[in-house]
Amino acid sequence: MTTWHELLMRDHEVTERLFEAFGNALAREDGPGIKAVRMARLYFSEYVDRCHNQKEEQHLFPLIEKRGIPRRGGPLAVMISEHGKSQTMLSTLVPLMEAYEQGDKSTLEPLRQAFAEYSTLLKNHFWKENDILYPMARKVLSEEDGASIVQGIEALEASFGPDTRAKYYDMANQIEVHGGIEALSKSLDPDVLAAILDTLPVELSFVDENDVVRYFSHEHLPKMFPRTRGVIGNTVQNCHPQKSVHLVNQILADFKAGKRDDAEFWIDMGGKKIHIRYMPVRNQQGTYLGCLETVQDITHIQSLTGQKRLLDEE
Ligand SMILES: [Fe+2]
Ligand SMILES: [Fe+2]
Repeated sequence: MTTWHELLMRDHEVTERLFEAFGNALAREDGPGIKAVRMARLYFSEYVDRCHNQKEEQHLFPLIEKRGIPRRGGPLAVMISEHGKSQTMLSTLVPLMEAYEQGDKSTLEPLRQAFAEYSTLLKNHFWKENDILYPMARKVLSEEDGASIVQGIEALEASFGPDTRAKYYDMANQIEVHGGIEALSKSLDPDVLAAILDTLPVELSFVDENDVVRYFSHEHLPKMFPRTRGVIGNTVQNCHPQKSVHLVNQILADFKAGKRDDAEFWIDMGGKKIHIRYMPVRNQQGTYLGCLETVQDITHIQSLTGQKRLLDEE
């Protein structure tokens, strides 16, 4: 079952992506489209303010106060006061958005400013909740407490109508498309990205949607399955022993048809246990881009027992 903190943090994540996309759309010289502004306005006032913040104020905060975290002073007081501040900021932002939707483009500059203030406050607020308040709350809340918060969250969402969360997440997604949000990896230098891929404790190889080998990692490093540049551009069917080709073809056909999301094998090789996995790679819209193979030496992982934590007090 999804936990209360997963639900609330998912709200934060979706909202932060929306912030970035809407910020991009606002930064364009001709401003965002009216539809995007309308969706963002409804999302901020109806979902963030009246639904998400209320999930916390009605179901999380009272319970953690009951379990000994005081409302006055400390993070709980800060969170409540920031909800209030965000509401005050909305009372400036919303009328600007409404005027923009009516075609008043002179509101674009004040709208940019009001949005920057509002989103900066909430980004900081979400971070404090994710990293400070929620971990603190998880320590004092019992499992039953957690379940009752989830129930409260679901009941509150239901009071706004059926599929409330899905409806607003879908709005956020549509704004993302308008705002042209970029994958985080795009901000990395390609050399850094390549070094990250070569540092992963799994060897990767990728064949594209036409089954052509396009990439493998760890080129200059020792590999469990040695391969060289010559394979690039070959079809995957040419790189596998003839007797396994029908199996490879079946897996790829299933991935393309959306029939499976995983094919897993494990073998013994040179005293090691090697785990091999194939996964379809799809973009956010679900289009099949190709197949990723991962190869990992899991001998050491299989030997682990008990726990070793970074933070002893956790
Ligand atoms: Fe909050
Ligand atoms: Fe929150």
